[in-house]
Amino acid sequence: MFTAIARRYDLNNTLLSFGLHHRWKKLAASCVPETARGRALDVGAGTADLALLLASRMGTGGRVLATDLNEAMLREGRRKVIALGHAGAIACLRTNAEHLGFSDHTFHAVTAGFCIRNVGNLMNAFAEIRRVLKPGGRFVCLEFSRPVYGWLRALYDWYSFRLLPWIGTRVAHDTTGVYEYLPASIRTFPNQEGLKAMLLKAGFSQVDYRNLSGGIVAIHVAIK
Ligand SMILES: C[S@@+](CC[C@H](N)C(=O)[O-])C[C@H]1O[C@@H](n2cnc3c(N)ncnc32)[C@H](O)[C@@H]1O
Repeated sequence: MFTAIARRYDLNNTLLSFGLHHRWKKLAASCVPETARGRALDVGAGTADLALLLASRMGTGGRVLATDLNEAMLREGRRKVIALGHAGAIACLRTNAEHLGFSDHTFHAVTAGFCIRNVGNLMNAFAEIRRVLKPGGRFVCLEFSRPVYGWLRALYDWYSFRLLPWIGTRVAHDTTGVYEYLPASIRTFPNQEGLKAMLLKAGFSQVDYRNLSGGIVAIHVAIK
């Protein structure tokens, strides 16, 4: 599915979130402490938006690894990284979040933007992310969550389950099923408290979260 949508991913993201995803990503990146010669890992980096924001926080001599399971998404990310002149600081690599393959205690920070919801086994991914973080390092998880107001939940349900599939079939002539997958994957994903409990169970010592756009999205910050 991600292979089929990779080329249109950025445009679709901007249209379907009314441009809000840029703001959400900036806020997530701001949860990563600025670190001189820092090492950061972005998991499920896709087209590298978060990795690009992280690069400026890792200081001179800093490095960011933008990793993703899907080569087509990474190709779009690599193209953007080069076009924006960050090829020296950001490397794009194909890696599964459940088997990261880096040494223990490698990164000052790990981020994941709208990736974790798609991973097969969340606890495997959290264990891997915790393993590759340095002690005291932060995992910043930006993900869809549960709107906190009843009226917003109703509006959001209408948008997700009625308008989005309609746009998918009538406007985008989609055949991948992405417009049905997106809302379904959001509804089956743990809510704010559920995700916090899972991160604590995975061994992170402190987990806090912040709701964005009334809880449509949440940023969880987990400390190793
Ligand atoms: C919705 S996109 C998010 C991309 C980007 N982080 C953003 O915020 O725009 C989800 C990404 O997660 C990747 N993904 C899904 N499962 C993964 C896994 N097990 N390991 C690594 N990446 C994965 C997909 O290939 C896709 O690029």
